[in-house]
Formats: sequence, structure tokens, C-alpha cells
Amino acid sequence: MFSKSKSNYLLIKGLIFIFCNFCNSPANAKEGMWIPATLKAHEKDMRSMGLQIPVEQLYNKDGTGMNNAVVLFGRGCTGEVISPQGLVLTNHHCGYGSVQGLSSTEHDYFADGFFAKNINEELPVNGLTVTFIRRIENVTDRILAGIDNTLKGAIRDSIIARRITAAEKDIKASTKMDAMIKPYFEGNQYWVAIAETYRDIRLVGFPPNGIGAFGGDVENWMWPRHTGDFSMFRIYADADNKPAGYSKNNKPYRADQYFKINAGGYKEGDFTLVYGFPGTTQEYISSYELKQVYNITDPISIDARTRKLDVWTKHMNASRDIFIKYTSKRAGVANGWKKWQGEVLGLKLNNATGKKEQFEKAFQKWADTSKEYPLAKTILPQMKEAASNIDPLITLDQYNKEAVLGIELIQQGAELGKLLNCFRLNLDERALRDTLTKVVNSMDGFFKNYDAATDKDVFMTLMVLYFNKCDETLPPMFESEYKAYGQDMKPWAQDVYSNTLLTSKEKLMSVITKATAADSAAIIRDPAWQLYNAMNDHRKTILPQLSAYYTRMKYLNRLYTQAQMGMNKKKIFYPNANLTLRTTYGQVKGLDPDGPAKYSFQTTLGEAVALDDTTQEIFTVPKKLKELYKKKDYGRWGVNGTMPLAFVASNHTSGGNSGSPVLNAKGELIGTNFDRAYEGTMSDYYFDPNRCRNISVDIRYTLFIVEKFGDAGWLIDEMKIVGK
Ligand code: ARG
Ligand code: GLU
Repeated sequence: MFSKSKSNYLLIKGLIFIFCNFCNSPANAKEGMWIPATLKAHEKDMRSMGLQIPVEQLYNKDGTGMNNAVVLFGRGCTGEVISPQGLVLTNHHCGYGSVQGLSSTEHDYFADGFFAKNINEELPVNGLTVTFIRRIENVTDRILAGIDNTLKGAIRDSIIARRITAAEKDIKASTKMDAMIKPYFEGNQYWVAIAETYRDIRLVGFPPNGIGAFGGDVENWMWPRHTGDFSMFRIYADADNKPAGYSKNNKPYRADQYFKINAGGYKEGDFTLVYGFPGTTQEYISSYELKQVYNITDPISIDARTRKLDVWTKHMNASRDIFIKYTSKRAGVANGWKKWQGEVLGLKLNNATGKKEQFEKAFQKWADTSKEYPLAKTILPQMKEAASNIDPLITLDQYNKEAVLGIELIQQGAELGKLLNCFRLNLDERALRDTLTKVVNSMDGFFKNYDAATDKDVFMTLMVLYFNKCDETLPPMFESEYKAYGQDMKPWAQDVYSNTLLTSKEKLMSVITKATAADSAAIIRDPAWQLYNAMNDHRKTILPQLSAYYTRMKYLNRLYTQAQMGMNKKKIFYPNANLTLRTTYGQVKGLDPDGPAKYSFQTTLGEAVALDDTTQEIFTVPKKLKELYKKKDYGRWGVNGTMPLAFVASNHTSGGNSGSPVLNAKGELIGTNFDRAYEGTMSDYYFDPNRCRNISVDIRYTLFIVEKFGDAGWLIDEMKIVGK
């Protein structure tokens, strides 16, 4: 809160801040996620911070840069190639879902870990892919030629979509690779990524949760950190080294580019570079939108997920079977839950919305007199007006999504909707049953990992929250049901969960196998479908207004970003993250947010062992690791009797950078990125070099675990180790 006497001083301070934000001073050189094809503009700065190789080694047009050793891992992580035989290093939490698919109570890789003893033991992972970005080119001229700046909405979108499809087709034909064109700078630029996606990926190494997920949600998003968050996979290719579906005839991918590993360590202040795929950031939005995140969406999600996680934890602790079913889902839900708490705290500590408002004052002053950007002066007033009525709807829909659709059974009601659609296709009986069976088979993943008793508890918990917060705008069907059950959640839940077909595949199949074209009644009667359908109808009453708001903001944000760039032509802007390949550079740097703690820049195995607590699963250090620690049996990887574990640096990363290679001044691998520090997670909206840190596993810890814990030294023989 501003007091009057302080406000002049703060205004001046704010203006200095704004000014510094706009000059390219080394003090904030760490902010930014750069398109690799534009790195030349940063070479001088990177060199002044320590880079020792030409930027052309990182990326070049000839296609021989280090980008060829970086992959989009699955749909939302990064991985790096670390041997000529296509060995890929990524995070434990990035491999978690794949390993979950390979695990059972008999093969519990979360408890025991998995390290292949040779290449024949590597396990194929159904559906997993990795994508290389071979080249990146600016295609703005082709996509935006002749399109008026004020053209907006569906007309603009459809012209651009058509041009993108045509351009991608041409580029695919000429390169014989995939081509993906995406908007940058909110649609002011378009770039193409020319890519290859490999589809035969096999699991090679995965430490047990006691290493790879050590500290669990307690340490997640925190520094200091003691998690060995890594796993290893291998890419397989056909006889021509090209992508192919799984086949036992496929061979390990022959990699021209792979990272050398530097096991010589680093010290505070050393140059670092992270290469990877950050997912979403919104650095240039207005205070109006930032306040929606800070005041509405983050707090609601946190509240709903706190309740859901409490229920899940209770059931998971009571049964190993439920633990295995829910562990991957839980990690996902808890990850956002904790990140948003750090984000809200960081935005608050930095007064980020206040700073946005100050910037907006300066912007408006500039815009009022700008001749070059005549549209600029009405942008902020229009945004203000658009945002002024929308908050109640954003609130409501956030509860719809997090509370109601956060109940698995209701969310799965959508699948019942798909079954109903099959009945409308006028198929003969056999074709109908085949089609229905296909839909049910596509739900295997859901059934494998579902526990109805757990979900029923979630239903009772989240519905109470929903009814409390949204009691004036409930879907009519929810209201009448609740009344019919005497305003008691318990009998209502009881009936829903005992009458739905969704509690087991067998139950659902028993209806499907008897279905005739005239008969969809069993599904229409299903309470899960009815609840989902009621929620859907309810959302239809607000979604048009919400989407009109977002469309308008999208248009205004394109102009706003363009104008911000016009206002500061000397500053080099970076595009918001959009899950495309980026580089970010910084330095190894400790973190001491509020004073005397003086956290070091590095943690060690000794510190992890000191946290050992066998009464808590997430803090139980595996026995074998404790023995290695006792004997100081670190092989080549320890340093004077200690084993480095994780470190922090000042690179600007985001979700999606998980698994990213962290390189030293020579472009050699020193670690694998896996997280950010709590108060710094607001860097998706606002980057503060004093608080923002990326957290990485030290490569020496990875090598130690592979060799000494996993007895998989054969993998290390494939790698090229330097610095030792
Ligand atoms: N916070 C990291 C990221 O965003 C790691 C998540 C995995 N760890 C966990 N305890 N859930 O993805
Ligand atoms: N753990 C995150 C991920 O899965 C990366 C950390 C971050 O958001 O910075 O991508």
C-alpha cells in the first residue's frame, strides 16, 4: 500500500527502474529467452559474461549447431543428447508418466529404480516422442504481407491460418521434414521451426523416487534442493537414421551432435547457458491482466487444489495400489498448486502490479504524443474498459474448472458424451458396437489409474467449496439435486458413484456389448454424464462473453507489444515463451532472498543424507545410497570427499525447460535444469534478477548415481567426459 508521502520518492524510483528496464545493461542481461537464430545480437554481452565459443557453435544456418543435441521431450519437457548413440538425458519428473505406464506393484520402478544392464534391456515407451529443431527461420513477411494492422478477430485469424498451412506445406516439401509456424511477440512476428520427431524411444535409466523425487512437494520449487531429478532414454531410428515407429529392427540413433560432459565443476559467477523449450510466459501484459492472475485465478486454484490434494494424500498413504495409480496425477496437480503460491508471493514481494501501473503511466505519456504509433494511445484505456466487467466471470469459470471439473468422474463425463455421439451416427448394430468399444478402449488410461472411493471423497470436498463460493450462480441441475438429497453431499455422492458406469471398464463394457442403435438411455441416465452436461450447459452461458474478452485482449496485446517495442527501439526484446526452442544465459549464483540466510549456490549429498527420515517416504534416502555416502564411494565424481548434488544460476527459464541442458562457457554440459526457486517463479510475468534462479542437478551427481547406485557404468563409457 502506498502512503502519500512516500509516493513521489517511489515514482522517481519507479521511473529509474523503468528506464533501466529499457537499456540493455549487463545488470539485467540474464532476463530473456532468445530465439537461437538471433543470438548474434547478444554475442558481445555473452562474451563479457564469460562465453568462450562463437555463437555459431550454438546455432547456425548450416544445421551443424548444438540445437541438434537438444530435443523437445514428450509434449512439454526438454532433453539433451549425451552420446553418439542417441542417449538422452532429461528429468526424473519428465520420465515419470512414461515409467508409470511401465510400472506395476510387481515392477515398482518408483520404489526400486530401473537401470538397463545393456542395450537389450532398454524398455520401449508407447507413445513417447522426441523432436529435434533442425532450423529456425523468420517467415513474418510471408505470413503478414499486406495485412492491415487493425484487422482483427476471425477474419485476420483465418487469413493467417491459411497462409500458415500453405507455407508449412511448401517448407515440408522442400526440406522433407516437419514444419511448424508459430506466432511470436503476440502475433507481430512468425517463425518456422523445421523439425524431426522420433517415435521409438526407450527407457534406459530411472533412479528410485528416494533419489529422483527426493523431497517431494516439500522441496519442490524451493532452494536449497536435494533432488536427483534425472532419467535417461534412448532414441531409436530406422536403417537410414530417420524417425520410425517402434520396431525391434530399429537401431540407436546416430547423433552427429551431442553434448560433451564437463565433470570439472564450476564456481559462483561462472557463465551458464540453458537451451530448451520454455512453455508460456506473459512478460508484456497490462496490470489489468496481471491482477486477474494475482487476485483471482492463482488464489482459486490454490484453494481448490489444497483440498483435493489433502484427500488424495490420505487415500494414497492408506494403499500402495492407490499410491501407484495417483502418484503421477498427484505430481502434476501439486506442481501447479505450489508454483502459484510462490508466484503470488513473488509478485507481492516485488509489487509487480504496482510496477506495471507505473510503467503504464510512462507508456501512456509516450503514446499520447507518438506519431509513429497512432493506435497506441487508446490501447490501455480500451484494456481497462474490457477488463472492468469481466472479473466475476473469470472467478466463476475458475471455480467451474478447478472445483467441478477437478472431480475426475465429472471430467470423464465428456467421454460419455463421445459415446452418445456414436449413437447419432446411424450405424448398423455391429459397426455401432465396434465404434463404442473403440471409445471405451481409449479410456484405458483413465480406468487403470482411477479409484472411485478416492474420487468420491474429492467430490464431497470440492462440491462443498463450489456451493459455498458460487451459490448464486449454480447450474440449475446441481441445485435441484442438492435439494433433492436434503442439502446433504453424502447421499448425493453415494448415489452418483454407485449408479455411474464409469467406476470400472467392465461395468461400462457390459452396457456397450448389449447396445442397440435404438438404445442410448443407459448413458443419458448416467449421473456422471448428467453432471458433466449440466456443467457444460452452465459454462455455455458465460463462455461467449469470456472468449469475446480474450479475443479483444489478444488484439490489444498485439498492438501493445508492438508499441512497447516502438517506444524503446534500443532495447532488444525477447518474445514470450511459446514452447519453441530458446537459449537463456546467466551465471552460477547463490540465492539469499531476505538477508542473512546466505544459501550457497550448491547443495551436496551430505545435506540430503542429513534430511533422511524413514518415517516420511519423500525423505527416505535409499539404503544403498547411504552406504555409498558412508564409504564416500563417489568414484571419479566427488570433490574432496563431498558429492555435489544441485546448483542454482540466474537463467530465465520456465515450465518446459525441465530437463534442459545447462552448459558452461565452452558449451559443455554441467547440469540438467529442473526447477526454479519459490519467490522467483513469478518470472513468467516479471523477472527480478535478485530473486529469480533456475535449479539444476549437478551432472557429477547424475554420473555418480548411474555408475555407483545404478551399476550402469556401461552408459558412462558411451559419453565424452572432459574436465577430469
Ligand atoms: N517444479 C518442477 C517443475 O515444474 C518439478 C516438478 C516435479 N517435482 C514434484 N515434486 N512434483 O516441473
Ligand atoms: N519443473 C519445470 C518443468 O517441468 C521447470 C521449472 C520451471 O518452471 O522453471 O518444466
